[in-house]
Amino acid sequence: MRTTVHPVRIHSVGGAHRCGRRAGVVRIGWMRGIVPGEGLRLLVYRGKPTAVTGELSESPPDSRPVSGMMLHARSTGKYGKHTEHRMQAAVYVVSIDPQASTVWWANRITNLPFDFSQEHETPENLAVLKDSGARVVVIANQKGGVGKTTVTLNLGAVVADVLKGSGQLQYVFIDTPGSLQDENLLREALKYAHEVLIPMPPEPLAFDPTARTIAKVIEPTGLPYRVLVNNWDPRDGKADLEETRDYISAQGWPTLESVIRRYKVHTRASVEGRVVTQYEENRPSYKAREDFYRLAIELGYGGGR
Ligand SMILES: Nc1ncnc2c1ncn2[C@@H]1O[C@H](COP(=O)(O)OP(=O)(O)OP(=O)(O)O)[C@@H](O)[C@H]1O
Ligand SMILES: [Mg+2]
Repeated sequence: MRTTVHPVRIHSVGGAHRCGRRAGVVRIGWMRGIVPGEGLRLLVYRGKPTAVTGELSESPPDSRPVSGMMLHARSTGKYGKHTEHRMQAAVYVVSIDPQASTVWWANRITNLPFDFSQEHETPENLAVLKDSGARVVVIANQKGGVGKTTVTLNLGAVVADVLKGSGQLQYVFIDTPGSLQDENLLREALKYAHEVLIPMPPEPLAFDPTARTIAKVIEPTGLPYRVLVNNWDPRDGKADLEETRDYISAQGWPTLESVIRRYKVHTRASVEGRVVTQYEENRPSYKAREDFYRLAIELGYGGGR
């Protein structure tokens, strides 16, 4: 993966700007904190502008650099998607899973409540998140199919709902691959994270792979992490849930009281292009939604940081 770096002179703010012939035209007007001048660099990957990095030459005191990846989202239109609101979204969801199922889902959602982009080709772009001032949460488990994407998008949706109108980026949720082969991508995301959430279903088959992820990849980083039981079907009774809780406490893993229950509406949501805040008004949907609000409250996300 080669990324070339071009010096950029920002000619003006508030519209479309030509940043050198090779880079093409990118919109930067919406990025707060960018002022005319030099000192920014435009990363070009495979001929496409992907991110703006670097120190701002001057910057109004109340502003801060905003993720250049969102620029990518808006400029290329290939992978990225953004809310239609003029205001800066409070939540930004990033996927670095090469399978890109998050993109598939997000592209079906007509009214996305958060900004979104896919960054597996250029995970080094995540570095800009460090300066965004937002809390960066990585959702990880190298076991496939445990609910990383489901948790990322729905947690992102409820936090965006709680913080809507704040006009400031506050949380970034990164969805990561469920495979050992893509461990380098997960490690890259962890470099910029403040904390990690580890979804895990109440199934013994998931125990060992989850333990491996935690012991080999998460714990060595020293980042705080919490295990979240996802996809528990209350109709199966409490035995599986209790067994899973016992296993988690025997391992000494920090865990969450909130459990995300299994509801068909979650499974259908990706095809229907919905996130939990957009589910129909019926009883199972209320319960499904309640789980994610409870989770956000327990995590303290959106609670007036
Ligand atoms: N709480 C839940 N209730 C119902 N279905 C769920 C729930 N959580 C996950 N699923 C379903 O399980 C499947 C796997 O979930 P998801 O794609 O979120 O897992 P993942 O960890 O992101 O997988 P991968 O490792 O392949 O990226 C999906 O069909 C999803 O709809
Ligand atoms: Mg996934």
